[in-house]
Amino acid sequence: MSCLFQPLTLRELTLPNRIAVSPMCQYSAHEGMANDWHLVHLGTYAAGGAGLIISEATAVLPEGRISPQDLGIWSDDHIAPLARITRFIRSQGAVAGIQLAHAGRKASCYRPWSGSGAVPLDQGGWTVVGPSELAFADNYPQPQALDAAGLAAIPQAFADAARRALAAGFQVAEVHAAHGYLLHQFLSPLSNHRIDGYGGRFENRIRLLLETVEAVRGVWPDGLPLLVRVSATDWVEGGWSADETVALAARLKHLGVDMLDVSSGGSALAPQIPVGPGYQVDFAARVRREAGLTSGAVGMITDAAQAEAILAQGRADLVLLGRQLLRDPYWPLHAAASLGLPAAWPAQYLRAAPQGSTARATADYAQG
Ligand SMILES: Cc1cc2nc3c(=O)[nH]c(=O)nc-3n(C[C@H](O)[C@H](O)[C@H](O)COP(=O)(O)O)c2cc1C
Repeated sequence: MSCLFQPLTLRELTLPNRIAVSPMCQYSAHEGMANDWHLVHLGTYAAGGAGLIISEATAVLPEGRISPQDLGIWSDDHIAPLARITRFIRSQGAVAGIQLAHAGRKASCYRPWSGSGAVPLDQGGWTVVGPSELAFADNYPQPQALDAAGLAAIPQAFADAARRALAAGFQVAEVHAAHGYLLHQFLSPLSNHRIDGYGGRFENRIRLLLETVEAVRGVWPDGLPLLVRVSATDWVEGGWSADETVALAARLKHLGVDMLDVSSGGSALAPQIPVGPGYQVDFAARVRREAGLTSGAVGMITDAAQAEAILAQGRADLVLLGRQLLRDPYWPLHAAASLGLPAAWPAQYLRAAPQGSTARATADYAQG
């Protein structure tokens, strides 16, 4: 019996297996609009057998983009091109998820292959916001601290984006509160130096995230799951900690969050991170064990037996893969073979499949 290929039911939605595509920025959109690249990129994972495919960080406001080329969902115009992608994903029997994001003080930066640090205002950059007037690094934009009106606009923007995501056919929404972006900036004492109700003690630092989750849960259907991605630790003394993550997880569970997607880092410039296979899995295990919240493990999970063991040992309920799926978008099909299991291949590719594989039941794509 495989754990990796067991379905996972969250609310009224069943994922066909426990393999998820971790959100990965493509920095390839114009004005936030999805295009052919995004269709092929995300669609390939659906053909490759992943159960859940989570889009890259998709900006809920234009100023929340990491780079000018980020995907966005701040207007109704963004819905149709995203709907084209979710239609294809669903036709393959996979579930389409979207990561809703605001980059805060780490916005308005060059995409990795175009430069580093802030894009100047006269070259398409913009003024960025954060909890405090603290830049992430010397070459990053100087943020303005969000005032009361700015704070109130954040949960609203996430909720409006969630409503659009639903209209675009997504069935899983994930709030991005990790990797040093806006909601994580509020969580972490490294970036949050506020002295009002949104800074200082734990209760205040988690406030904006809780308000955002409440707003999104308010518009996201009861039958569909809501995920939150966090950085379990900043890996820095005095930063956000794993204990705080466990306490936060219990609060999020109470607000109707169905799974915590447990990553780490992104708040500090050069933390000491013990990177290695499955190096973040222990945090997902703690969330599951100590907060009783369903958890997803991510980070250097590359091997079928390794993924299977994480699930079999009850350390997480789902595995998310990033770079390994960039290397091999058909990893789920290959993982099944290496575990000695039959896999459901796309009918079109069945002649290349190992013996015993079956054709996947998909919507008929013989159009036109
Ligand atoms: C090209 C690339 C883009 C990424 N973009 C995002 C993103 O949009 N949102 C996010 O939460 N994480 C992002 N990540 C982090 C991945 O989702 C994942 O957590 C990380 O790569 C560790 O998993 P891995 O070892 O399986 O790659 C990105 C990673 C890569 C390699």
